[in-house]
Amino acid sequence: MTARAAQPRRQIFLGVNIDHVATVRQARLGFNPDPAEAAREAVLGGADQITIHLREDRRHIQDSDLEPVRRKAGVPINLEMALNPAIVKIALSYKPEKVCLVPERRRELTTEGGLHAAAQKKRLRPVIAALRDKGISVSLFIAPDEIQIRAAAALGADAVELHTGTYAEASGAKQKKELLRIRNSARLARKLGLMVHAGHGLDYRNTAAICRILEIEEVNIGHSIVARALSVGMRRAVREMKQVLRAAGR
Ligand code: PXP
Repeated sequence: MTARAAQPRRQIFLGVNIDHVATVRQARLGFNPDPAEAAREAVLGGADQITIHLREDRRHIQDSDLEPVRRKAGVPINLEMALNPAIVKIALSYKPEKVCLVPERRRELTTEGGLHAAAQKKRLRPVIAALRDKGISVSLFIAPDEIQIRAAAALGADAVELHTGTYAEASGAKQKKELLRIRNSARLARKLGLMVHAGHGLDYRNTAAICRILEIEEVNIGHSIVARALSVGMRRAVREMKQVLRAAGR
């Protein structure tokens, strides 16, 4: 494992997930709205990277979106993907700056749980190595759980993306407890030399507390920003999220 700087990065990186722009387009199987255009608008609003999930069932982002999104975005691309050989092949030739490995179940509404990294070491190891060989930074989308974090470190991943879905859906004492679990997980991951990202279910109200965890260097946010963009436009929706990050001291 490579040595990393001991100090967490102060400024948090905002990845804007534009999948649901493609969801609207796929509702009519046409050309509008255009995810590449949305990516450009997100960057003009302050997105530091564009995140896209090429799902096995191609329910939103299509293979034909990959190049236009990269071209129009002009910022790093974070490709979320399952451990599917056909998608791995696409990733190896597309060569995004980052890949986030996620579990995928065909009938889920969205990525519902974290990757069971500890139980899938044999399948994960060669994929992580192949992606890293191409210069792609690899993160594993996992629950904020010690076993999964230790597995990610042992597998040589560059980063973990801590699943914030449980935190986002909880309230009161339960949410506080989950936040603590995320904070402790972020600290452990950092200690083990992993970069720490977070995502899923983050919105304009619940993101600030996540950003106050200084070990977290990156958040990936999709649904809430795309939903807000329907009212105020993508540029402003992203700008507003950046304000949330800044107000949290990042
Ligand atoms: N991070 C990962 C790994 C995801 O799978 C998703 C959902 O595609 C997100 C972040 C974004 O989640 P949301 O759309 O709830 O903001």
